[in-house]
Amino acid sequence: MTKSGYLIRYARPSDFKTLFEMGSRAWPEWYAENHRHDERHIKYSIKNKRAIVTVLRGEIVGYAFFDVVWNYMHLQASYVKPEYRRMGIGSAQLKRRIEIAKDLRLKKVLSDCDVDNKAAYSYHMKNGFKKCGYIKNLWDKTDSYVFSMDLPTRKSGRS
Ligand SMILES: CC(C)(COP(=O)(O)OP(=O)(O)OC[C@H]1O[C@@H](n2cnc3c(N)ncnc32)[C@H](O)[C@@H]1OP(=O)(O)O)[C@@H](O)C(=O)NCCC(=O)NCCS
Repeated sequence: MTKSGYLIRYARPSDFKTLFEMGSRAWPEWYAENHRHDERHIKYSIKNKRAIVTVLRGEIVGYAFFDVVWNYMHLQASYVKPEYRRMGIGSAQLKRRIEIAKDLRLKKVLSDCDVDNKAAYSYHMKNGFKKCGYIKNLWDKTDSYVFSMDLPTRKSGRS
């Protein structure tokens, strides 16, 4: 629990409906065409501990997904309800995923955002990512920036 009173935990199967509804409100056009894919993705992420939620006074106010590909973490959708933005919750969700990546001894964290998403761009840069690429038409017809962060290598616990 932070000083601001929110806590971040892994999403549970009972959170599915809330996450699906929050996602469809956040990205209505995308969900209208891809809701089956998103349903599968949310269920997969919850089952495999690849989804976290931020809870404030019993309400889920944000969520974030990620996955592990070979030796790096790929960050996926991160979302904070509009009335709770600019309170550091998005950054806290980012930091929690980076901690998970370190615990898994991964080497890098990769992420992306639409080129016209100024908030998401600043949020990556402020949290230590470096811009490392550009992909045309990544999401439908929108181009994306790609970001990366190198993680320190941890010594194994064995002596
Ligand atoms: C991007 C998002 C997750 C950030 O969440 P948040 O809780 O507001 O983020 P934080 O409070 O931790 O802000 C961290 C930094 O991001 C940047 N930032 C966040 N919102 C911003 C905005 N509207 N305009 C410009 N910069 C912004 C700032 O640098 C901010 O630091 P500051 O408040 O000290 O200036 C949130 O805006 C969101 O849910 N957006 C809609 C979904 C989305 O676009 N997700 C990103 C997909 S990659």
